[in-house]
Formats: sequence, structure tokens, C-alpha cells
Amino acid sequence: HDLSGANTLGLPCVAERFSAPSTPAELAAVLQEARAAGWPVTVLGGGSNLILGDWLSGLVIHPEFAAYRCETLDDESVRVHVDAGMNWHQLVMSLAEQGLWGLENLALIPGQCGAAPIQNIGAYGVELADVLERVHLVHLADGREQVLEAADCDFGYRDSLFKRALDGRVVITRLELCLSTRPSPRLGYGDLASRVGPSPAPLEVAEAVCALRREKLPDPAVLANAGSFFKNPVVEAELAEALLTHHPDMPHFSRPGGRFKLAAGWLIDQCGLKGYREGAFGVHDRQALVLVHHGGGDAEGLLHFSDSIASMVLKRFGVVLEREPRLVGISEPQGE
Ligand code: EPU
Repeated sequence: HDLSGANTLGLPCVAERFSAPSTPAELAAVLQEARAAGWPVTVLGGGSNLILGDWLSGLVIHPEFAAYRCETLDDESVRVHVDAGMNWHQLVMSLAEQGLWGLENLALIPGQCGAAPIQNIGAYGVELADVLERVHLVHLADGREQVLEAADCDFGYRDSLFKRALDGRVVITRLELCLSTRPSPRLGYGDLASRVGPSPAPLEVAEAVCALRREKLPDPAVLANAGSFFKNPVVEAELAEALLTHHPDMPHFSRPGGRFKLAAGWLIDQCGLKGYREGAFGVHDRQALVLVHHGGGDAEGLLHFSDSIASMVLKRFGVVLEREPRLVGISEPQGE
């Protein structure tokens, strides 16, 4: 089964077997079949945060159940139950249209709802963990169902238990989110506030976020990419202060423990790499944190390219950049 069109980086990939269950019962049945046959299982959502190797042996599962429903909790709180296969952006827009607050800053993030907790998706000052209540999942090893409270998911910046202890071990089937009818716009990031009127509705904020993203981020349907390719690095105060002496305009945000988060896009940009291209891969010309695939490349080539970008940043600033998308079906390059 060809997955080249099923990952937003457009990397060539073939899966030995593929299944797209359209109900949780179908998912349970196919998982049981995989266990009986001893096939390794890979879960694929929207494919927007993955670096896929050329060949995936065993079975690739792409959940397609995609409904949601709202449960009124009290005068102002609404619990949303959403299936893993629902498109994230459609959910955000549909809830914003209903006047519900909570997800509007996360508009236009590609991918499926089931993948959202894995990297704790975040943008414009909000992250999934702010509204997530529970994650429903199935263990691949024995088909056991489990409901994890958000507090037990170990959420961090672009990080969770699903990237660590539970990596490759579970399929997320459903999320429970808590939204509110009480106006609570969060407009503190960048110039978001200047892009909406006074007392905006959630839909107005979501539309402003879409406009901002469209200005900077390439549409994967037009130019293959996986959003931010590196995490924004968190560095010790000493290094941040030393860099600030030479670059007083360097974006920096204070973190607990006296550390500072720097903008990886700024660091790459300062190395003069915006728009830089080497064969099939390049640095996006409007947002240096996004690497793009012009076609004809593969995962190995991408890792080689991204390592050369990271080493230029390390050489110039002494800052280590960590990749954000997960590697699937390919191991870390030698020497790391
Ligand atoms: N900057 C530059 N040059 C660049 C890119 C950025 O100078 O080429 C500077 C900007 O001017 C700004 C700072 O770096 O001062 C931060 O840039 P921006 O606001 O564009 O955000 P970011 O830190 O690059 C992060 C997330 C994005 C998210 C935006 C908005 C990460 C890894 N990325 O990017 O998330 O949309 O903030 O909240 O945290 C993603 O994860 O795929 C993603 C797109």
C-alpha cells in the first residue's frame, strides 16, 4: 500500500499491509488479527508530523471513525467527545461556529484528532493540554482499553507520555475536551490582538489565526512539509545572556528554572538559511523553522539535510536543535 500521498512531507513509503477501520469495533477486530499473525502495527493519523521510512513492515492502521458530540455540563461548560479519525481543523471550526471557546487558537493545524495529544499540539499561546480532559486508547499488545486522565499524560512543550513510555504501544481512539461558552479570548501571542475587533467571537479569533498561519506557513497540499521541523530550544540562562549581548533583538521567553526558550526559526534565519535549498529539500522562505520537500527526496535525504541545518546553528550559536516530527520506519542516523 503506497503511503506517499498519506504523509504531508510527501516522502516515498510503502506499507506491507494497510487498514482504515471505520468503527472502533472494526479497529478491535483488525488489531486482534494483527496480534494473531504477529504483525507489527504502526498507527497513522493525518501523517502531518512524521518522517516515514521507505518501507513499513506489518500493518499500518489509519482510524477513520470521525464523529463528535457535545455534552452540556453546566451553564457554561461543554464536554466534547471526539473520535480519533476526525480532522482537527474541522473540529476547531465547527466548535468555534457554535460559539464555544477553547480551541480557536489551534485552527488550521493539520492532522487528525487522535494525534493531537501525542505532541500536545500548540499554537498562539494555547496547547491541547489546556482543554483536554481524557484520552481513550487501546493497547496494541493485548487489545485492552484504557482511559487516561489528562493529568496522567505527562504533557510538556510538544511532548507527552505518547512520545515516550507509550510510544508505538497504543492506538488513541477518542478524546474528551472541555470547552466554554464564557468569552475567554487569548490574544497575547504576537499581533493576534490587533487582528480582531473588540469582544470577538471564537470564530473571529479562529479566522484571524488561519490568516496568520496562511501568511507564514506553507500549505502541505501545495508544498510538502511537516510544520515546524525543530522544537524551540530551551537553554540555560548563561547561554541566553551571552547570545543576547551580541544579538539584543533575539526573541527569548523566560521559562521555569531561570532558563530561556529561544526561537529556532530565528536562529536558522540568522544563519542566512531562509529559502536555502539543497536538492530535494529546502528551508521555507517565509518561516525558517519549516523544512520543505520539493519532490524526489526520501527520509534519509531529509535527515541528512536537517542535520546539516542543525549543525550550522550549533556552530554559530552553540544551541542544539531537536527534531520535532517523529521517525517512523527509519532509525536515527548513525553518530547521534
Ligand atoms: N522568526 C524569525 N525568522 C523566521 C521564523 C521566526 O526571525 O524565519 C522569529 C519571529 O519573528 C518570532 C519568533 O522567531 O519573533 C517566533 O516565530 P513564530 O511566532 O513564527 O513562531 P515559532 O516559534 O517559529 C511556534 C510553533 C508553531 C506555532 C507558532 C505560533 C514550535 C516548534 N512551533 O513557531 O507550531 O504555530 O509558534 O504559536 O513550537 C508546529 O509545531 O508545527 C507549528 C507550526
